[in-house]
Amino acid sequence: MFEQIHANHVYRCLVNGQWKETSAHSPIEIFGPADHTQVGFIQSFSKDDVDEAFQAAKAAQKKWAETPISVRAQILHRCADLMEEYEDEIAAILSVEISKDIASAKSEVHRTADFIHFTADEGKHIEGEMVGADHFPGFNKRRFSIVTRVPLGVVLAISPFNYPVNLSASKVAPALMAGNSVVLKPPTSGSISALYMSEIFRAGGIPDGVLNTVTGLGSEIGDYLVKHPLVDFVSFTGSTSVGKHIAKQVGMIPLLMELGGKDAAIVLEDADLDETARDIVSGAYSYSGQRCTAVKRVLVIDSVADELIAKLKEKVEALKVGMPHEDVQVTPLINTKAADFVQELIDDALTKGAELLCGNKREGNLIYPTLFDKVTTDMRLAWEEPFGPVLPVIRIKNAEEGIDIANRSEYGLQSSVFTKNIDSAFNIANQLDVGTVHLNNKTERGPDHFPFLGVKSSGMGTQGIRYSIEAMSRPKVIVVNLEK
Ligand code: NAP
Ligand code: G3H
Repeated sequence: MFEQIHANHVYRCLVNGQWKETSAHSPIEIFGPADHTQVGFIQSFSKDDVDEAFQAAKAAQKKWAETPISVRAQILHRCADLMEEYEDEIAAILSVEISKDIASAKSEVHRTADFIHFTADEGKHIEGEMVGADHFPGFNKRRFSIVTRVPLGVVLAISPFNYPVNLSASKVAPALMAGNSVVLKPPTSGSISALYMSEIFRAGGIPDGVLNTVTGLGSEIGDYLVKHPLVDFVSFTGSTSVGKHIAKQVGMIPLLMELGGKDAAIVLEDADLDETARDIVSGAYSYSGQRCTAVKRVLVIDSVADELIAKLKEKVEALKVGMPHEDVQVTPLINTKAADFVQELIDDALTKGAELLCGNKREGNLIYPTLFDKVTTDMRLAWEEPFGPVLPVIRIKNAEEGIDIANRSEYGLQSSVFTKNIDSAFNIANQLDVGTVHLNNKTERGPDHFPFLGVKSSGMGTQGIRYSIEAMSRPKVIVVNLEK
């Protein structure tokens, strides 16, 4: 189905069912972060091109919303089948473009196909309701209401670099099942993978104009996109700083935002330390820590800290480090700016007296997995999201101190609690100011039909298959008035 990825190819955008090339600006060069080789070029869309994409989406939406839900579901199932069929090809592109280790890249594509299948099934069960007969006190007229769910119109989906396929599809598929059309703005690093995903949707039978893509630098076209008069809903996943900026731009357009995190793993005295260490290391370092839900700090009771840290260190040192096509867990970060930022946080912790247990070695954008003990709350690493393979351990006196440090974060995405005591687990979970608490597991999204949300600076609104479909639709109420 796909043209072979080659360095001089200029990837076009899907607009109204056609692959469109802009003449307005020169294309943007995309480099593979692992070795800085040129991967291809993407379009830098102008305002006129963006207008064309939105107009196509607007024009196509009504007919799509009138397409029977079973037909919409059939088309999405076909797209998911194609996604499975082309898993290896898409994973290979992902791996080169965003330096994702090949196993994680395959898993991203596989999980996306599952997500689309599930969304197609779930969408068939989003039904309305009848709210029973009633009347205002003192009035005779009885009334009941018939409530259906209707689409919002045109959804603008903006996705981040770390899951350009999965976090694009997890906006596109629910939006489509709800009867919306979509304009997708993928991350610049990750655009090529997202354009391949769009080709899957086109080939699967999504009608012309129902899914459109626009590429270009967010810093250049972002404001124009989010303030576009034809946008009815913005679904954004990315950094807190960009999310806050978008929230100021959009005015009264509804928003769903999944942003950054600083997920804490709280470890009590009675935790199974072998399993805890295994979960924490996999949670902190997979895809080199470039996951919003990565474990980003460990808060461990002092009496078991030495034992836990010894186990963590052993596992971190065993992580395989290398290039994305190899069988490794830690690969070069997305760009030099990201690697410089992680190094800054490491250097700050070292200067302020944290104990380096392993890592702090760098080759270009490749940061070796780094583990710190004795991190204290005056260090940036205690609060800032590195989005890289570095994990701080903060020793705490008791669970209350853990809860306090966890909740003092500006973020509120997820937390973990490791303990064998179910009462402690629930007591702590109830006090943590986050969207989700995992008991005896690493922090992570999913399964995808579970609600997924962040509070405070980690987001607004709730994703998850049914929740996303509901967020991208609204109740429509018809009230029937009855004369007595
Ligand atoms: P980012 O820099 O915020 O970019 C996200 C998306 O927004 C990209 O498509 C980007 O386009 C676009 N963008 C940039 N500036 C924009 C603007 N002014 N208006 C509209 N769109 C704009 O984030 P990232 O570096 O890709 O991803 C890493 C961050 O995302 C981390 O903080 C991570 O925690 C967070 N994240 C959160 C979740 C979650 O579910 N909570 C999931 C994944 C990632 P360009 O690529 O062209 O700049
Ligand atoms: O990066 C943010 C993603 O939503 C995290 O998803 O926990 O499946 O890696 P994940």
